[in-house]
Amino acid sequence: MASGWPRAWVSYSPRATAGRNARITHVGYNETVIHPRVLFNDQVHDSSEKLLVAGQVGLLAGWGVFSTIRVADGVLFAFERHWARMVKDAELFHVPMPCTAEECRRRLLKLVEANQAQDSSLRVYVVRNDGSAFGSVCERRTDLIGMTTDLKDWGGGVKLAIEPQARHAASKFSGAKILSWAINLTLVEEAQSKGFDEVILLNERGEVAECTSANIFIARGNQISTPPLSSGCLPGVTRDLLLSEIRVPGFDVRETTLVPGDLYNADEVFITSTTRELLPVLEIEHKQLQQGQRARQALQAEFSKYLDQYIADHKAVPA
Ligand SMILES: Cc1ncc(COP(=O)(O)O)c(C=O)c1O
Repeated sequence: MASGWPRAWVSYSPRATAGRNARITHVGYNETVIHPRVLFNDQVHDSSEKLLVAGQVGLLAGWGVFSTIRVADGVLFAFERHWARMVKDAELFHVPMPCTAEECRRRLLKLVEANQAQDSSLRVYVVRNDGSAFGSVCERRTDLIGMTTDLKDWGGGVKLAIEPQARHAASKFSGAKILSWAINLTLVEEAQSKGFDEVILLNERGEVAECTSANIFIARGNQISTPPLSSGCLPGVTRDLLLSEIRVPGFDVRETTLVPGDLYNADEVFITSTTRELLPVLEIEHKQLQQGQRARQALQAEFSKYLDQYIADHKAVPA
């Protein structure tokens, strides 16, 4: 273990790592610590170096795109899907991408190597540097930033609050993963101060959209449902894999408009994200939910197989 790294990681969770030898952090949501090296454009730097400047408009206005990628056995899991989502959102927000997908992957793998972060969570950001009277001249139109952190132990499930009017489904910007994440962070902070773990965000029609950093699914019998993108939810990579790649005989996974009552009446409710995979929901607004596990466990097992196969297929690709 490299010296000078934070001491928070300690144990090993078979659920979260699918058998890989990862460090797991047992600290709170807001206490995660980044590893000592960061990527800034094409170079890896010490995270204490001063690399950013006030002229980077995107940093002050939240103008840019990002993604959180799971690093598994040194492989950037589903990188092409994360990249495609960033490119789509970058076009919508007029953010030039700084390099090609392959170049970005190569640089991020350099960061993984520098941090010995072969099983970790990786954030990649593209920050827009121009476009405001209060900008100043920057060397590049955008900057690429990367950082890694330990995987987190999410425990056995989550307790959710509900927030009405928290997603504007009709907006052309809904579902975009952009730097201005202040609304999500404020909502989750408020929820956590009241003892919840996460928040279900409803749209302007009162439909369920997603959580602040996860998509949501329910199961009733053999039918597994998640809100459609028209709910205003973000097109999560995990959600997308469950809808398009993961097949479990006897279960049907589809998009369905959901209202809060559907969650209370479901056999199972679970949330999905890159770092959590599929995590059960225990309670919503202090009301205990039914704790069927059949659908989630079956999907999780197939998801873990898919992850293992992805690693096997991409392991040999050199950085
Ligand atoms: C608002 C929101 N919805 C859903 C997700 C899940 O997306 P993914 O599966 O790509 O991690 C995230 C991930 O951070 C998110 O921020």
